[in-house]
Amino acid sequence: MSLKITTNLVEESRISSFDPDNIVFGRVFTDHMFSCDYVNGQWQNFRIDPFGKIPLSPTLSALHYGQSIFEGMKAFKNEEGVVTLFRANDNLKRLNTSAERMCMPALPEEIFMEGLKTLVTIDKDWIPTTPGSALYIRPFMFATDDFLGVKPSENYKFMIYACPVAAYYSHPLKVRIEDHYTRASKGGVGSAKCAGNYAASMYPTKLAQKDGFDQVLWTDGEHHQYLEETGTSNVFVITKDAVYTPELNDSLLAGITRDSIIKLLRSKGLNVVEKKVSVDELINWHKNGELKEMFVSGTAATVTNIELFNYKGQNFNVNHTENLIGKEILSDFQKIRTLEMPDQFGWVEIVSESEVTY
Ligand code: COI
Repeated sequence: MSLKITTNLVEESRISSFDPDNIVFGRVFTDHMFSCDYVNGQWQNFRIDPFGKIPLSPTLSALHYGQSIFEGMKAFKNEEGVVTLFRANDNLKRLNTSAERMCMPALPEEIFMEGLKTLVTIDKDWIPTTPGSALYIRPFMFATDDFLGVKPSENYKFMIYACPVAAYYSHPLKVRIEDHYTRASKGGVGSAKCAGNYAASMYPTKLAQKDGFDQVLWTDGEHHQYLEETGTSNVFVITKDAVYTPELNDSLLAGITRDSIIKLLRSKGLNVVEKKVSVDELINWHKNGELKEMFVSGTAATVTNIELFNYKGQNFNVNHTENLIGKEILSDFQKIRTLEMPDQFGWVEIVSESEVTY
């Protein structure tokens, strides 16, 4: 490894206050964080510091004009203490795709991988091993110009922090298919993992939650007819004939878990179809008894079954207990990530301490 990372470690770890048997998603953070700055056209100032607050100017351009992108990924530890990363290179690729759309600089692979592996190695004791748990890792980049006016920032910060997590959802979901509000539209930024997309989804999600639903299932902005994704995850629909998932377009996030599910199920001989999936089609499958299962997928959401969808005030129950493909996928992913099952896809990378200097 060749990146020169200035390392400032905590004097005393906070890990004794962490209870791995009672993990609440996104509330506890590991001891350290990685950061670097883009200044004068160069990434520089690579650092590991104690996790904590960072000083920001009130004029910080990310706060006003929204140049802010992020990723979600996970590290795992098996019973022998081997630490693995899942498809880390694909997170970097997506980060850089988001960066291009948001007029932000690309992050070189060396910086991403070395920052990531150094942080994960230093904080490896925080990786939980209880079933379904993992170390959730949040790489993110934001604009740091102190400037009032709309233009791409010239300065940026890239950071990574991590938190031990259990699954984001602890129960099957009730979703409302949205027929009024729009998360993203054709030609917009829906396929970028940018902060604003999450802000856009909050008000309609709040309304849905007030009516007893867990999530909004977004439809296309033009016709409100084709399924897109939920506010946190992609969606899959299983019928007696095939596994369907909305085809990718510029208003929908190209989930890495989505892609992994498609590849895993195809390797088992299942017919996985990426296409426009209409609400009418979904309701017909339900009426004809052809709808077998629905689930959402994401790094945080993992694979979570949908127990009910609502459209224009009508509820439709979905099987979420019997012969679940979603459960089988989860179990296979867990085994692949902890090296219990061969990784025929080349998704898993072992983090070797010898690669890291600090
Ligand atoms: C992820 O799955 O990593 C996400 O970024 C979704 C977020 C709601 C936690």
